[in-house]
Amino acid sequence: MKKITVIGAGNVGATAAQRIAEKRLAEKVVLVDILDGIPQGKALDMWESAPVEMFDTAVIGSNHYEETEGSEIVVITAGLARKPGMTRDDLLLANAKIVKSVTEQVAPQCPDSIIIVVSNPLDVMTYVAMKASGFDRNRVIGMAGVLDTARFRLFLAQELDVSVRDIQAMVLGGHGDSMVPLVRYSTVSGIPISELISAKRIDELVDRAKNGGIEIVNYLKTGSAFYAPSASAVEMVEAIARNGKRILPCSVFLQGEYKLNDVFVGVPVKLGSNGIEEIIELNLTDQETFALKKSADDVAAQIAKLHL
Ligand code: APR
Repeated sequence: MKKITVIGAGNVGATAAQRIAEKRLAEKVVLVDILDGIPQGKALDMWESAPVEMFDTAVIGSNHYEETEGSEIVVITAGLARKPGMTRDDLLLANAKIVKSVTEQVAPQCPDSIIIVVSNPLDVMTYVAMKASGFDRNRVIGMAGVLDTARFRLFLAQELDVSVRDIQAMVLGGHGDSMVPLVRYSTVSGIPISELISAKRIDELVDRAKNGGIEIVNYLKTGSAFYAPSASAVEMVEAIARNGKRILPCSVFLQGEYKLNDVFVGVPVKLGSNGIEEIIELNLTDQETFALKKSADDVAAQIAKLHL
């Protein structure tokens, strides 16, 4: 790839840019933020690690969108964290405004790009980016399931004292506490986890994964998770940049799949150079169908509040 842009040079955005450079996924990474000096300083600092880390990727920081021109992938991490006194709805409206504004500025510069959204509330922000860009749904994708499953996979590996590499998991639904884990599709080298861990213990690990974001916030106090979120976003970047045809849970705009319409929600997809190349429809149990519908209804209710 020639150019990948990351918007938002905060914890998630800067770490994502660093991972993209260290994985040599593009000739140039552009980091954009509204704060004067922050993207420039972080980008230069990162670029100065190139001789040590041995990457040839140029890392450029900017407050302007001209620099992003022609990017093939755009990762949106711009947004605010919830401040004291702010309700969830306040945050929703504030971040919707930010994501709309950055998308409206970047989309004309990068008309052929694939957008990956990381800003929260994730599923709603991905909808905002799709509307503001006017891109087809295969080119606007939300990062949630990769992170939710990464957390679940780590907890399973710790529980069983086995390598994380041998753990597979799948989740559906909205990000975080409304995620719908598909326990019967979670395996250790193909062995269903239900054969290795008690149902009660699996429930506890699922709960921990659902609340994985809060667990980190409670430790950090002044910010939220960014190592695992940036790694997860970059796994999606890599699948697209290298035409990986990876099957990953991502937030996508459903139009009839899973009997859901006009809403972003997490489902398994095939990710390759065209973005979403296929939406995989699984047969769900009644309980899973109900949970997914509820998750989608929550996202739709939030979208309705935006009056887009
Ligand atoms: N244009 C560009 N950048 C912006 C804008 C804007 N209009 N508004 C805010 N930003 C930038 C901020 O200046 C800040 O540098 O977005 C960055 C956000 O960084 P952090 O506050 O460090 O937040 P971070 O932890 O990176 O999380 C970013 O990802 O995981 C989600 O919930 C998280 O929505 C949040 C987002």
